Amino acid sequence: MNGAIYGRTGSSVPKQRRRRLVMSFEMVRLDRASSEPLHQQLYRQIREELESGSFDSSASRVPSSRVLAATLGISRPTVNQAFSKLLAEGYLQARKRSGVFVADHLPATFLKAARLATTARTEHSPRVARRVTRMADFRSGRQLDVGIAGPPSVIFVAGLPAVDEFPIAVWERLRQQVLAKKGAHLLRYASSRGELELRKAIAAYLCDFRGANCHPDQIVVVGGMQQAMLTCALALLNEGEVAWIEDPVFHQARNVFAFAGAKIVPRPIDREGLVIGKCSRQNSPRLIFVTPSHQFPLGVTMSLKRRKALIEFAESRDGYILEDDYNSEFRFDGPPLPCLQGLDNAGRVIYAGTMSKILYPSLRLGFLVAPPQLVDTLVKVRAVMDQHSPAIDQATLARFITEGFFLSHVKRIRELYAQRRVFFIEQFQKWLGDYFDLEVTPAGLHFIAWLRRREDLPLFMRACERTCVRNRPLSFFCIKAQLEPAFVFGFAAWSQAQIEQGLAKLASAVKQLKQRGAGNGSSFQIHPFSPAASSYWPSTAVRSN
Ligand SMILES: Cc1ncc(COP(=O)(O)O)c(C=O)c1O
Repeated sequence: MNGAIYGRTGSSVPKQRRRRLVMSFEMVRLDRASSEPLHQQLYRQIREELESGSFDSSASRVPSSRVLAATLGISRPTVNQAFSKLLAEGYLQARKRSGVFVADHLPATFLKAARLATTARTEHSPRVARRVTRMADFRSGRQLDVGIAGPPSVIFVAGLPAVDEFPIAVWERLRQQVLAKKGAHLLRYASSRGELELRKAIAAYLCDFRGANCHPDQIVVVGGMQQAMLTCALALLNEGEVAWIEDPVFHQARNVFAFAGAKIVPRPIDREGLVIGKCSRQNSPRLIFVTPSHQFPLGVTMSLKRRKALIEFAESRDGYILEDDYNSEFRFDGPPLPCLQGLDNAGRVIYAGTMSKILYPSLRLGFLVAPPQLVDTLVKVRAVMDQHSPAIDQATLARFITEGFFLSHVKRIRELYAQRRVFFIEQFQKWLGDYFDLEVTPAGLHFIAWLRRREDLPLFMRACERTCVRNRPLSFFCIKAQLEPAFVFGFAAWSQAQIEQGLAKLASAVKQLKQRGAGNGSSFQIHPFSPAASSYWPSTAVRSN
């Protein structure tokens, strides 16, 4: 405890006096050992304090950043970073020549919280379990949420599919048909393994189109990749046991393994996929998370040699591989490559698939294909979470697959994405080609664009901020990896007109900022990159020009 947050004036303090108080900061708990950055801890704790309704806002002046930094033993930029967020979100208000105050008109969430505070006041920051605080991501479940309003605004977020192309009318008709046929049966508790018809349909699809080798009894239906990963992590990892994850990595995977208490070991990626390297027996991974069809986010396809080596390695160390096959259907230079699971004769690969990219993400349906000896364990873990996925959606999906709509939808959107992809490449070259080398890999729904000049990174951060483009810098997905500066651009969810408009807007914002000599001082936090970067990511990377 370093001193201080907003002086929580107890209820015994007269209101009048409290209003005139310059806040003191006794309640701030800054934990330097936490993976949560200090500025974020400060921001969160101040916000929580305000939301608790302790303050009669208008008279409450906030100490200057200098005073607060000295009191808390942290740097001024750290305090300023927390303040800028609170100012931007409307919790604080700057008054000319007077300083910073708690805002007169607080955000709606604040007011609601203040009303609730009479019954639900807490006298301290809640003490939450370590498994929560050790998660690296603090956006409270909003990681992939672009709100009901977006898109169509062009934000180039990776991982968003073209949901407006989903055949809603067909889905709705099939839903009515299954309800008419099965009626109340679909309203009861269902199997934690998943509906048999759906498991049969998925097994047939995987054997025919993904080169998998499986029986419907090996399938466990889950709530998307998120639950697939969590189920495996909780079923297979004891606290402190080693999990290998790719670096850079799908940020939600990192959170899952941190939450499960694993000792996370980030593994680098080369042109053949995850690097196995040397590893002592006692540090052997119990679980290895990989995206072999299309490494997220770098886009590498794991070579056959590396696939075989990985299975052999897992077998030799009594570990399991979790294969995330999230968007293998979207390969544009030929048929999708067979999955890792199909190569596995050792019972070491757990395959995980999701409907989020092929159909739509709010469906929250995915599946695991487990080696037979693991199925019951996975079902047991899945059942303690939420019993099962919604039976009506499962039955509708089974029919969607067996009646051929699934395959025709995949075919149609793959063609659409192929067109958008080519168009994106052309437009990107036109608008931003002077700044970036676009990495063109044969699969996936996003691109990596490598900045030619590292010093342009803050400029682009600001331009994205201005234009509301929410693509992420590659460093966002890195754990230890020190890569050259780059951005990840999703392209699938937007029409050609929108792609052009979005890229043109970004280019124009960059131009304006350059004219004004701006570009520094972005409020985004960026990871440093090192000169070692080029040795990490081979310079032979395929570039678009
Ligand atoms: C690597 C990866 N796997 C899986 C998913 C999908 O996750 P879910 O099925 O939980 O929606 C995503 C989403 O962006 C992803 O990037």
